[in-house]
Amino acid sequence: MSTKPEAELGRAADGRGVGERNEAAMPLRLTLANLSKSFDGTEVLHDISFDEDVRALAIIGPSGGGKSTLLRIIGGLEAPTCGTVSVDGRPIGTDEKSLRAYRATLGFVFQDSGLFHHMSALENVALPLRVVHEATPAAAEERARELLERLGLAEAAAKRPAQLSGGQKQRVAIARALAARPRLLLLDEPTSALDPEFTTEVLDVVRDLAEEGTRFIIVTHEMGFARRACDHVAFLSGGRLAEYGPSERIFEHPETPELQRLLSRLLEWSW
Ligand SMILES: Nc1ncnc2c1ncn2[C@@H]1O[C@H](COP(=O)(O)OP(=O)(O)OP(=O)(O)O)[C@@H](O)[C@H]1O
Ligand SMILES: [Mg+2]
Repeated sequence: MSTKPEAELGRAADGRGVGERNEAAMPLRLTLANLSKSFDGTEVLHDISFDEDVRALAIIGPSGGGKSTLLRIIGGLEAPTCGTVSVDGRPIGTDEKSLRAYRATLGFVFQDSGLFHHMSALENVALPLRVVHEATPAAAEERARELLERLGLAEAAAKRPAQLSGGQKQRVAIARALAARPRLLLLDEPTSALDPEFTTEVLDVVRDLAEEGTRFIIVTHEMGFARRACDHVAFLSGGRLAEYGPSERIFEHPETPELQRLLSRLLEWSW
């Protein structure tokens, strides 16, 4: 396999900071056109259309409402039954080759950090850079160290996942997702398995990255985070996009009784 020197990872060319992108101020245009998804004949997403600039988008809603399924479709991990996803005006494609290329432009963080248990934090972050993005070992390691330091994990670099706290593991997972400077970070309940103190630690990191220009879509039940750190919120309920708008509007003036109920319940438990 050929390897790419550091400059080709886009690192040295412009002196950007760790989580930053050149087009930091630029949103990404996400267009969902009549998306539906069925599993075994049961439709779990119904005709979802959405065409917006995304910087920091929260997807909220009751359990089973289709949030993870929608995020996975946006990320090219799951195929919709009908409809299309386009990013910056380009459909993401349906064949495995285009989907693989598309997925490589994104960063994913899930509920479970999904780290390799037999590798150090540093190796967990550097590995995909070498294997997926063909970075040289030296460039991959340098980038991994830089990210771990940025996320407050310099001391954790040599440790294996079993030696890390839940919050540290999720921060390593975020570092890994950011390693190749994804154009969009997708996070599915990254804090739902964590104690409150670690939840805050992880969400603070996501908020800081967003302030530096990392674009993200997060599925979360942390309403305080959605309200303060996200500029837009999509409320998904029963497989439908029931409400969408600027977070201030969603939280100050929820329109559907369902969202009103959800917010009154969840705001008490907030980040
Ligand atoms: N692979 C699958 N096979 C069959 N049904 C599925 C599959 N994935 C999701 N579903 C169903 O689709 C619906 C939406 O699930 P999804 O996981 O997207 O909801 P969610 O909003 O993320 O819920 P939660 O907040 O509990 O994570 C549920 O009824 C679920 O059982
Ligand atoms: Mg889910």
